[in-house]
Amino acid sequence: MAKKIAVLPGDGIGPEIVAEALKILSFLNTDMNLDLVFENALIGGAAYDAFGTPLPQITLNLCKNADAVLLGAVGGPKWEPLPHAVRPERGLLSIRSELNLFSNLRPAILCPQLVDASTLKPEVVSGLDIMIVRELTGGIYFGQPRGIRLLENGEQQGYNTLVYSESEIRRIAHSAFKTAQKRHKKLCSVDKANVLEVTELWRNVMTEVGKDYPDVQLTHMYVDNAAMQLVRAPKQFDVIVTTNMFGDILSDIAAMLTGSIGMLPSASLDASGKGMYEPIHGSAPDIAGKGIANPLATILSVAMMLRYTFNQPAAADRIEQAVNAALDAQVRTADIHSEGMVKVSTSEMGDTVLDALRRQSRQT
Ligand code: NAD
Ligand code: IPM
Ligand code: MN
Repeated sequence: MAKKIAVLPGDGIGPEIVAEALKILSFLNTDMNLDLVFENALIGGAAYDAFGTPLPQITLNLCKNADAVLLGAVGGPKWEPLPHAVRPERGLLSIRSELNLFSNLRPAILCPQLVDASTLKPEVVSGLDIMIVRELTGGIYFGQPRGIRLLENGEQQGYNTLVYSESEIRRIAHSAFKTAQKRHKKLCSVDKANVLEVTELWRNVMTEVGKDYPDVQLTHMYVDNAAMQLVRAPKQFDVIVTTNMFGDILSDIAAMLTGSIGMLPSASLDASGKGMYEPIHGSAPDIAGKGIANPLATILSVAMMLRYTFNQPAAADRIEQAVNAALDAQVRTADIHSEGMVKVSTSEMGDTVLDALRRQSRQT
C-alpha cells in the first residue's frame, strides 16, 4: 500500500525549502518505486491566517493518518503580537505533542567541503559527527502551570514549570542509549543537576537505564560546561542526550560548527518510529522570499525520513551522496559561500542535488 507523507511547508522560507526537498523526494519516488504519496496542509502563521488557529484539525488529522510528516518552518514577525495560544510556534509544539514525538534526533555533521564555512578553526571541527538527542514533548516547554499573572502589588509575574516524570526520562534515555549503540557507544547526558532537582532526577534515571546498556559509556555534564565544550572541543562528543530546552539551545550551537544552521536536519520520532522531519532552523524572516535560503537541511531531513520511517537506507544514502556531490561541485548558497565558490539560489541548489541523483541512476 502507498505510504502517505503529510507536507507542511509553513511560513517564511518554509515553502521555498520544502519545494526543493520535494523535488528530490519525488524523483526518488519514481526512480526507486518507493510508492509514496504526498498531501499538503497548512500549519503555523499560514494556518492562522486561513483558519484562525496554527494547527487546524484537518492538518492534525492528516498528520495522524500519515506515515511521516515533512515540515518546513513556522513563525515570523507578522504573528508575534498574537497571544501565545495561537502563535505559529504553538502549532508546531502541539503537533509534536499530539503525535507523541518525544525523541528528537539532531545530527551535526561537518561535510569536509564546508570546513572553511565554519567559524571555528579547521582542526577543531574537521571530521565532526555528533548526534544530539533532544527530549521533545516535555520539560519547560509543556510544564503546567504557565502564564503571566498579576501579583497583589500590581506587578506582573511570568512563570513556566520545568517538570519531568521518571517515565518521560526513561523513554528518552532508552532512545539515546540505542542511538549510541549504533554509533561510537559514548553517551553524554547534559543537565543542570547541581541546581535543578528535576535534572537531578534526570541524571539518576539516566544512570539507572544505563545499566541495561553496559556497552555504552555514559558520562554526565552540566549544560553550561557542555555549551562551552561544544565550541572548545566538539569532537569529544558522540551522542548527547538532554532536555527539551537545553537541546534546543545546544543544537543551534552544534549547527554553527557545521558551517550554517541551514545544514542541520532533524527527525522527531514516536515510540514506533513514525516521525516528523524538519530542518532545525526557523522561518528566517530576514531572507524569506529572496530565494537564497539553503535547502540542504530540509533535503537531508528527507534522507532521515527514508532511513528512519521508511527503512530505505539505500535511498537515504543516495540523497546524502548527492548533497556531497553538489558540495564537491563547489555550489553554495549564501550562508555557506566562501571565496572561489559558485553562489547559487535555493532552487539552483535543489537542481544541483537533483542532477547528482540523476547521474547516480545513469551509473547504476
Ligand atoms: P531562524 O533559524 O529562522 O534564523 C536565524 C538566522 O539563520 C537568520 O539570520 C536566518 O536568515 C538564518 N537561517 C536560518 N535558516 C537558514 C537557511 N536555511 N539558509 C540560510 N540561512 C538561514 O531563527 P530566528 O530568526 O530566531 O526565528 C525566526 C522565526 O522562526 C521565529 O518566528 C521563530 O519562532 C521561528 N522558528 C521556527 C522553527 C521551526 O519551525 N522549527 C525553528 C526556529 C525558529
Ligand atoms: C526548534 C524551534 C522550536 C523549538 C520553536 C519554533 C517552537 O526553535 O525546532 O528548534 O523551540 O523547539
Ligand atoms: Mn530551535
